[in-house]
Amino acid sequence: MALIAALDQGTSSSRTLILDEQGRVLASAQREFAQHYPQPGWVEHDPLDIWATQSATLSEALARAGAGLSDLAGIGITNQRETVALWERASGAPLANAIVWQDRRTAPICAELEVKGHAPELQRRTGLLPDAYFSATKLAWLLDHVPGARARAERGELAAGTIDSWLVWKLSGGQSHVTDVSNASRTLLCNIHTGEWDDDLLALLRVPRAVLPTIVPNCGAIATAHLGGLSIPITGMAGDQQAALFGQACLQPGMAKNTYGTGCFALQHTATQPVRSQQRLLTTVAWKLGADQPLHYALEGSVFIAGAAVQWLRDGLGLVRSAQEAQELADSVQGSGGVLLVPAFTGLGAPHWDAQARGLLIGITRGTTAAHVARATIDSMAYQSAELFAAMQADVAAQGGPPLCELRVDGGAAVNDRLMQFQADLLGVPVVRSAQLQSTAMGAAYLAGLGAGLWPDAQTLSALWAPERRFEPTMSADERGARMARWHRAVERARDWADD
Ligand code: G3P
Repeated sequence: MALIAALDQGTSSSRTLILDEQGRVLASAQREFAQHYPQPGWVEHDPLDIWATQSATLSEALARAGAGLSDLAGIGITNQRETVALWERASGAPLANAIVWQDRRTAPICAELEVKGHAPELQRRTGLLPDAYFSATKLAWLLDHVPGARARAERGELAAGTIDSWLVWKLSGGQSHVTDVSNASRTLLCNIHTGEWDDDLLALLRVPRAVLPTIVPNCGAIATAHLGGLSIPITGMAGDQQAALFGQACLQPGMAKNTYGTGCFALQHTATQPVRSQQRLLTTVAWKLGADQPLHYALEGSVFIAGAAVQWLRDGLGLVRSAQEAQELADSVQGSGGVLLVPAFTGLGAPHWDAQARGLLIGITRGTTAAHVARATIDSMAYQSAELFAAMQADVAAQGGPPLCELRVDGGAAVNDRLMQFQADLLGVPVVRSAQLQSTAMGAAYLAGLGAGLWPDAQTLSALWAPERRFEPTMSADERGARMARWHRAVERARDWADD
């Protein structure tokens, strides 16, 4: 057998998929792990929990597939991005919990970078904005707050990295300290035009080069895993949203995907052209399929609260007991009765980047019911995504790029037919749901299969991708315009509200 194991290390769980040479999923396993919230706005993970759950799911998935480590032709890794870990090279022991992408503790450092006028140069070199979302300020915080860490890092005693790096370190028994270029492009330290660490940025953000991993392409001979007395090549690796873009076979410029998870992550492939956003979107490395291959880029917009708003209906308001019940409640009414929810619970991400925005429920009348609130909550995912794609289209059009002709969707909420129809209506372009909703893990598997030589080229992968259902827009342009205008008015009212 020549199988691929795709390791999908997400924010709330670790998962492994086992695929065969035809790209069919033979088995999977998933384990959740603890989230730590030591202070308001702080989010941490224990790197040892991440490793324990990830390695356990690899064993479980292999057992379910009736296979063993010796059947693996390659391992693919995909991961929650921006989350950063710091560990000791000699022992491999973490020095602290990893700081998670959602953690806001370094917001004041980022505000200072903005005030000092560094934002334009940061955007030019990295495609990103000075925001606490990205890894660099989190790593500098660890180096400043773990006793002795900065001096030890400068002496080369410590290693740091995003979760891809940490997993490779563990899989390789501490022999490889690498990160792939898509993960590197989320740190604020990587120049996306060269795909290398940038010394000026390392100095500005106070990160010693000695602590950082080597940047490698997304596919090929990335490292070797030493497991159960065997050596297995790690042949594919990418950040989870770039992996989902690859898993959705968005291989041509203009193709785009949206993943509906805790947040929503919208990416449009711009091929070898890094489109510099005028709309406060992010320019990110999509992938580099080998040392001699060019860098490919994507424009990205992130909605911080999507499925998390449905969790709020359940855990915060106690209106429903499950996401399924929220969907049924929302579907029990014809519309939201004029109610809109702007779920800016942790501020607003792209294109607003307003950390002071807060959630807003507006349009309530005496006739408003729980069903209207549930409907407004679910619809907010489509409104926020439509807003992102409008900004993306403006950026792409300004550079003479192709217009969006369809949106490929995946993730938990993509199973909701009504929501997907509403999304197509608000976008005015078809929404296509892929047969395999686990696009992230599929992307890691495709990269690993390419790297292991199971499939000859990226184009072969297009044939492995299959649509399950297509939602054609049916809403008139007038109604679409009126709805989006109303949404924008609500967003304006939610902005700049927090008094902390
Ligand atoms: O940028 C954060 C993103 O990579 C997290 O993805 O699916 O683990 O929530 P997920």
